Amino acid sequence: MTVPVRKLNNGMTIPCIGMGTFGSDRFTPEQVSGAVKGAIECGYRLFDCASVYGNEDLIGEVFAQAIQEGSVKREDLAVTSKVWNDMHGQGDVLLSCAKTLRDLRFDYIDVFFVHWPFPNYHAPGCDGDSRNPDSRPFFMAEFMAVWRQMERLVDMGLARAIGMSNMTIPKLEAVLPLCRIQPAVIEMELHPGFQQPALFDYCVKRGIQPIGFCPIGSPTRPERDKTDEDVSATQMPAVREIAAAHGVHPAIVCLKWAVQRGQVPIPFSIYANEYESNLRCVTEDPLTGEEMAKIAAANANCRLIKGQVFLWEGAESWRALWDENGVIEGWR
Ligand SMILES: NC(=O)c1ccc[n+]([C@@H]2O[C@H](COP(=O)([O-])OP(=O)(O)OC[C@H]3O[C@@H](n4cnc5c(N)ncnc54)[C@H](OP(=O)(O)O)[C@@H]3O)[C@@H](O)[C@H]2O)c1
Repeated sequence: MTVPVRKLNNGMTIPCIGMGTFGSDRFTPEQVSGAVKGAIECGYRLFDCASVYGNEDLIGEVFAQAIQEGSVKREDLAVTSKVWNDMHGQGDVLLSCAKTLRDLRFDYIDVFFVHWPFPNYHAPGCDGDSRNPDSRPFFMAEFMAVWRQMERLVDMGLARAIGMSNMTIPKLEAVLPLCRIQPAVIEMELHPGFQQPALFDYCVKRGIQPIGFCPIGSPTRPERDKTDEDVSATQMPAVREIAAAHGVHPAIVCLKWAVQRGQVPIPFSIYANEYESNLRCVTEDPLTGEEMAKIAAANANCRLIKGQVFLWEGAESWRALWDENGVIEGWR
């Protein structure tokens, strides 16, 4: 299966769709690494990993075996990983990258991300109301100290490209002019129910490739990330009508829309029938211009990954994390 590629601002190319590896609190590391093995066999070459997903060691075994058996070459894989919020201190980013490389059995990572733009840490599996008393608002100097360490990873040949995740336009406006190495990619929540047109356009205009997480609206996200007001991407009437017209599951419409719009979706599934059809769907039966416009018009502006567990004391709503008033909340 030939999957189209996207060219990044540093000359690298990555496939136009990849596979997520966050098992949420529902799937074991063994189930996720088993899916990565099957996904390599069916043609996936882009995998979105992170140290906090707790499964990089098992996924690394799968990569090592696939490379040893000759089913894939290292240089044909594009693997991303991310430094978690508890590793933002001086020297910690290199330590985090080294641990990821050891777990993945690689001597370089294709893209390394700053997972969240602040050092606010929550224990894995915590509930939605838990707060860490050490959490604090975004702090420019702190973020730039992390980014300088990220740039060093590129200098040292440990990362081919670096990226940011969970950013906002006000934060990007503040940090991009200070970056010696611009991010090649920015990972953000993107699905028909939350299209983030302003942030998407901002990145594209600056030659930064958007990577879309939760592209199917993350029906299996942790309970702490669910509220009664959430809009389900696969239940949206526009998505369902287009799915019926094409004779496919609404999840497939979400992915076709994502790739045709220009972001790189990274859908997750442990089921072979799902991940195989997720990859194949971007090579056949595209949506029409009218269908693309219908989905664009249906944007519900409903953020699902609100990040409330990262809030600092005194902050009233998760909205404070997303600078919705156009200025960085708690600016320092
Ligand atoms: N940077 C960040 O902060 C961040 C945040 C969140 C996620 N991510 C990344 O983004 C990846 C994807 O996000 P996600 O896993 O939360 O959500 P997602 O990919 O939107 O949704 C995954 C769920 O969709 C369903 N699904 C997948 N393919 C399907 C198909 N063909 N037909 C029907 N249902 C299908 C599966 O649920 P069922 O089992 O119910 O079928 C699966 O568990 C993550 O794995 C992670 O790598 C990054």
